[in-house]
Amino acid sequence: MADSTAAPSLFIPLILGTPRQGRKSEHAARFVFEQVKKRAGVESEWIDVRELPLRFDDAGEQIKDAKFSETMKRADALILVVPEYNHGYPGLLKHALDSNLEEYIHKAVGICGVSAGPFGGARVIENLLPVMRELGLVVTSTDVNFGNIAKIFGETGELKDENFVRRVSSFLDELIWMARVLRHGRENIPPA
Ligand SMILES: Cc1cc2nc3c(=O)[nH]c(=O)nc-3n(C[C@H](O)[C@H](O)[C@H](O)COP(=O)(O)O)c2cc1C
Repeated sequence: MADSTAAPSLFIPLILGTPRQGRKSEHAARFVFEQVKKRAGVESEWIDVRELPLRFDDAGEQIKDAKFSETMKRADALILVVPEYNHGYPGLLKHALDSNLEEYIHKAVGICGVSAGPFGGARVIENLLPVMRELGLVVTSTDVNFGNIAKIFGETGELKDENFVRRVSSFLDELIWMARVLRHGRENIPPA
């Protein structure tokens, strides 16, 4: 018999934030996606900015894609896996995120930065913080920094640095906790 007291599953989709051919962030994103799918009581979905059917002759909610919007509405939290491009975020990720707004309000977001250099996307994460806030998302205090990405994953995406199992686990622990707390708040505590 189903346990009627069990909390409903959390839905935490992951967005891979670059369309670049040969992107190494995909290795990081696939690894994080596999880890989140292992969590009990959590569903995820793979979203690739390359695959989103967005127009480029306009911006913001005018270009909203119904399926992406529905997924963001259903989400309890988001995982962004984002490479650092000239210390900033890929334009296509911002274009995609800007197409929704109300869908994100008071939901948790965790960010994994990816870089060729040693800082693990620390600068792109910092640059994303004001954007997240303006979108109504609530950022975890734990990030994952995939620095020197070529040393972390092999050519076919195999993990070479086992430390990232623990790092991603801590990241997911906080994100899942925040997703639960914020969902409880959205569902049970009227806004001020
Ligand atoms: C346009 C562009 C700008 C980049 N700027 C930086 C940078 O500021 N800092 C850095 O560490 N790596 C930089 N890189 C290298 C990426 O971090 C590297 O390609 C890494 O593998 C993650 O991006 P990827 O998923 O596109 O492969 C840049 C790459 C591109 C394509």
